[in-house]
Amino acid sequence: MFSMSELSIDDRFANIIGDSEKMRQVFSLIERVCDADTTVLVRGESGTGKELIAQALHYHGVRRDGPFVPVNCGAIPGELLESELFGHEKGAFTHAIRTRMGRFELADGGTVFLDEISEMSPMLQVKLLRVLQERQFERVGGTKTINSDFRVIAATNRDLEEEVRKGTFREDLYYRLNVIPIESPPLRERESDIVLLVNHFIDKFTNSKRKRISGVMPEVLTCLRRYQWPGNVRELENVVERMVILSMAEELTVADLPERLLEGSGGKLSVSTEMGEIPAEGFVLSVSVADFEKKLILQALTQTGWVKNRAAKLLNVNRTTLIEKLKRYEITAPPAVDQ
Ligand SMILES: Nc1ncnc2c1ncn2[C@@H]1O[C@H](COP(=O)(O)OP(=O)(O)OP(=O)(O)O)[C@@H](O)[C@H]1O
Ligand SMILES: [Mg+2]
Repeated sequence: MFSMSELSIDDRFANIIGDSEKMRQVFSLIERVCDADTTVLVRGESGTGKELIAQALHYHGVRRDGPFVPVNCGAIPGELLESELFGHEKGAFTHAIRTRMGRFELADGGTVFLDEISEMSPMLQVKLLRVLQERQFERVGGTKTINSDFRVIAATNRDLEEEVRKGTFREDLYYRLNVIPIESPPLRERESDIVLLVNHFIDKFTNSKRKRISGVMPEVLTCLRRYQWPGNVRELENVVERMVILSMAEELTVADLPERLLEGSGGKLSVSTEMGEIPAEGFVLSVSVADFEKKLILQALTQTGWVKNRAAKLLNVNRTTLIEKLKRYEITAPPAVDQ
């Protein structure tokens, strides 16, 4: 049996990939607060790994042998959420056929993860505040006071201060939750993590899909680094999964990238053939070549009324090659064309 403190930070947070300064700060904060019983508020855009941070806090802390009980406050309708959290007594409402324990009760000795906390109704916010202060509550329809020893970790991708100003989130609850805030940084602010994440996801998807990918062309990484990643790590994960599925070769190339990554990455990846000279900031050869190829394919299809056999003849490629390229470039016939 090893002790947690004998492991390096890298090993301890093995499932949270990242080596950037911003992620190192997150790891260090997790280390400092995981053993404390204080409430933590994990904040950050969608897809940045807030749930992973919450899990790390639980599984690296003193409560690791207790349960980790997640509740998505945004996904459960208001009335149900109350009985989900607090439980209910038999007969408390029409469908309460038997007594049921709530998540706070189930989390005894462990951690409750309240995800999307801003979505909680004003009525429940009051009840939550009381629970946080007293660690005691009653089941819906019950009178017996239940004691449960749980830690609360909450998460939000909203601007809670703004919600407080608007009056949709209680200020007193906000202060209760925000004892230790942890910011989960957006992916565009930790470019240096992209390569690590890409390799991590390639391993994950090649294992699950029994495919072999030996590497990634440097231009692909350039595109990935320049993209703004509105969906953060979740979006990157999906992009890599898609590339692993679609790639025809062992090495991922720009042709495997979804269109939005070629367009949304600064516009300087590609240059037109009519340019006088290469711009000082440079461009990515393979992206430009792919752009040119796409234009020629579209031209051939337009000229042949989208008859693929004829377009393939014009381009001197096999029909199957053409179809493959259409798939890669996500080229589909305009709705007016009846194929
Ligand atoms: N640093 C990371 N290393 C490895 N995987 C990550 C990392 N960050 C996020 N992921 C993966 O990205 C996906 C989204 O992460 P997660 O669900 O934790 O995000 P979130 O911040 O809770 O998003 P949302 O606000 O939409 O709920 C998950 O599949 C998660 O495993
Ligand atoms: Mg989440």
